[in-house]
Formats: sequence, C-alpha cells, structure tokens
Amino acid sequence: MTSPYRILDRLREGHALAEEEIREVVAGATRGAAGDRSGGEAGDGWTDAQLAAFLMGAAIRGLDAAGTRALTRAMLESGERWELADEVPELADKHSTGGVADTVSLVLGPLLASCGVPVVMLTGRGLGHTGGTTDKLEAVPGLSLDLDRAACRRLLAEHGLAIGTQTPAIAPADGRLYRLRDHTATIRSIPLITASILSKKLATGAAAVVFDVKTGNGAFLTDPAAAHELARTLVEITVGLGRRASAFVTDMSQPLGEWAGHTAEVRATFECLEGHGAADLVELTYVLAEEMAAQVGRPVARGELEAAIASGRARELFDRWALAQGADPAWIARPDLSLAPVEAVVEAPRSGVLARLETQQLGLLLAEAGGSRHAAGGAIDHGVSLRCRARLGDRVEAGDELARLYLRREDDALARRLRACFAVEDEGAAPPLVAEKVVLEA
Ligand code: URA
Repeated sequence: MTSPYRILDRLREGHALAEEEIREVVAGATRGAAGDRSGGEAGDGWTDAQLAAFLMGAAIRGLDAAGTRALTRAMLESGERWELADEVPELADKHSTGGVADTVSLVLGPLLASCGVPVVMLTGRGLGHTGGTTDKLEAVPGLSLDLDRAACRRLLAEHGLAIGTQTPAIAPADGRLYRLRDHTATIRSIPLITASILSKKLATGAAAVVFDVKTGNGAFLTDPAAAHELARTLVEITVGLGRRASAFVTDMSQPLGEWAGHTAEVRATFECLEGHGAADLVELTYVLAEEMAAQVGRPVARGELEAAIASGRARELFDRWALAQGADPAWIARPDLSLAPVEAVVEAPRSGVLARLETQQLGLLLAEAGGSRHAAGGAIDHGVSLRCRARLGDRVEAGDELARLYLRREDDALARRLRACFAVEDEGAAPPLVAEKVVLEA
C-alpha cells in the first residue's frame, strides 16, 4: 500500500500514476462515503485535504488514457453494478453533458422503446445553469425515479423503458469526489469529468451508450475543441471498458426546442410525441435514437421512428411507462401542464436577424426564478418557464415576440436581464445542430 503522501508527491512531480495508486485514491475516497458498505470508518480513508490535493493535481497535470481508464474503473467498482445487459442484451443508454431545455431524454426513451429497443437511463438533477431530467420528470405528479436493479429489470421486461436517478449505492466515490470538486474549482477537467460521468453511466451495464456532448454558450464546455476532446475521451474509455459507444458534439448556443423549464419541457415532450414538436428537438432526438439502435445491433430507420409517433404508439408508451413508475392516473388521463401565471414578453428592439442568445444566462435566470432548488433556495417551482419563439438566424421585425417568460410573481429586474439576453443584428446564423460524430478509429 502506497501512502497518500507518496502518491500526491509523484502526481505533483508530473509522474503518470500507476493503476494501483489510482485504486488507492478511490479506495480512500470510498471509505466513509455515502453508500460505502465496507464497514470502513471515515478515519481510515483519505482526508478531504488529501483528496482535494489529488483532484487539483489531476486537473492541472492531467491524467493519461491509462490513468483516466483506471480512475473510471475504480470509481465504477466503488459501488453497485447492475450489469443489466446480461439479461437485456440490446439495452441502450444515452448521456447528455447538459444544457438549457435539453428535453431529448424524455422524448427519446418512450420513442425508442416503442420501436422495440430497450432503454435505461439513470438521470441527474440540474447543475448550475443546466436543467436535470430528474427534476423535469418530477413535474409529473407521483412519478418516482427511485429504482433499484429489480425494479429496472421489471420495467424493462414490461415496457422496454426504465428511467431512474442516481442512488447512493452507485459510485459512492464519485459522490464524495464530486462534492469536493465543486468546492475546489476542479470540475472543468476532462479526465475527472469522464471518470465521474462513466462511473455512474456504466453502472447499469447497458450494452451501448451514445453521448451527446454539448458545445456553445449554453454548455459546460463552450469551446468546440474541448467538447471534441471530451467526446473522444468518453467514447475511448467506454469502449476500453467493454461497452459500445459513440458521441455527437451538438449545438447549445440556444435552448433546444421552444420550451425551457420543468412542466414546460413535459409539455414539449408531449408535443414531440404527438407529432408537432419543435424541429431541432425532434431532429436531435431522431439522430440519437438512430445511433443508439444501431449501436445495440437493432437498427431503426427514420421512417419507423416517424411511424411510432404518427401512430400514437410512442405517446401511449409514455403513459404506460409513467403509470408503472407511479404517476398519478388522474394526471395521466388529463395532464395539467399549466405554467406560472405572470408573463414577461421579450420583443425585438429593431428589425434584423436574431444573431445571439446568452444561453447560459437564460438558464441561470430560470434557475433563479424558481427552476432550481439550489439557486431559488427552496423547492423547485415546476411552472417557471421560458418559451423561445425565434431561433438564431430568424429574420424578425421590430416588436415581434422573441420569447416569453412565465414567472410566479412580477420581477422587473429579472425581465430586464432576460431582454438583455437577445441580440438582433443585421446578420447572423444558427450553428449546425450536430457539429460532428465521434467514433473510435479502428
Ligand atoms: N456530470 C457528472 O456527473 N460529472 C461531472 O464531472 C460533470 C458532469
């Protein structure tokens, strides 16, 4: 056993850590972490100070591919592994790095399951300016995301779809390391992000994972080169750990679709599943669904996806699946999708082209207005929402409605800050929705 001091000393000096040393770090983080079932005392693990030093060292020095793989594997093995593909061989999963109005998971799950491709997703809560699928699904009264392996297995057998949320027993090392990263400015590190995401993502044991890595001013990694690097690393490490994987780098320089907010995104989900969703949200859902199906060896053509929507099959599957996960039958029969009642409108200040949106700021404004437990300092207000009527590159006339915010109470300062997020200029264009596809080179 190597001492924490010796491992940190080697990291500081720029040596690549050996797999055994990285295992020591993760074992040290796991002892006493939530979900630890080893019986270890908090005192026999690494201290927060030692772990924080490791995180800063890894963030500054970087980890090579072997180090990133070792960290991911050790964090994955720190908790439960469900290995669901042993029983559901064509099981597919998707992961988004997060953005504003990223409603894809809610649409894609029932859509792909209704085409016969089983889907499992363990979702997360909103982080910073980004919304979380766990929070969005809580806008459906009664729906529970507390799933264990047996519940997942049952849902997959009956509906081909299981959507849960992170449990303390999955990757407990990440729970502790993530909290420390949040306090030590070590979130933005590609090896640390990769290990954190994959330690949770691979725990369900889907046969294939497709990553949607966001770039643009509403993403965590705004720089396309960094997004590419993260996409490549996620795919490489996932494949190295024995799963199939590919990634898309996709645009987050404006909210995806028309609606942002929790109830609003359930509304957007129903619009998509009923055949009248926003074009970009529908297109990205199709792209990711086709890739997931191909990765698990059960290709689904675009026409089949369209037919599942046109026939109502995908929409019906949403209802059946939601009821199976505890949704209130009365709500499912008559969904109440009402939004917060106070409306603030953003009008085009001049004629021209919608050239820029401050997407991260839009996410933060929504969070502050009640869309995030943390930023609003209490319970989430699921009705707080934003509707974007104009897309980047659209021609607009002075006075046209660009967006509408739905608030619980009047807030002139917030409405003013909202208006400042939209820039109309002489020229402008939307970046491509899908910037690139990343697969492992043979
Ligand atoms: N999401 C995660 O789970 N971990 C990270 O490090 C970043 C995003």
